[in-house]
Amino acid sequence: MPATLKPTLLMSSHKLCEGQSKGFIIDDIDLFVLRHQGRVLAYLNSCPHRQVPLEFLPDQFLDEDKQFIQCATHGALFTIENGLCISGPCNNQSLVSLYVEERDEKIYCTISQARNF
Ligand code: FES
Repeated sequence: MPATLKPTLLMSSHKLCEGQSKGFIIDDIDLFVLRHQGRVLAYLNSCPHRQVPLEFLPDQFLDEDKQFIQCATHGALFTIENGLCISGPCNNQSLVSLYVEERDEKIYCTISQARNF
């Protein structure tokens, strides 16, 4: 049964503006957060195609128009809202989303102990 770990503080809210993304490694887990339409979302930084990191430069997880998450290796595009691949070699596969919350002007991520990913 998956247990929940204590939320990990990632950053202050004001450091993640609309359309920005930021990568972290927490307990050897490579992840990133981004802000979209005011909301913060978090995903594992691993393309479902080859399980490689997505970004082409540090903290650059979005495409040029900031409309999709993009894998720099083969160009797959994923929806920001739910991480579904809509174009590329992993079409219809999804990024693994992580539980993220924003409170008291800070962003926290909680990673399941089961780590089923
Ligand atoms: S490794 Fe990401 S699209 Fe191929």
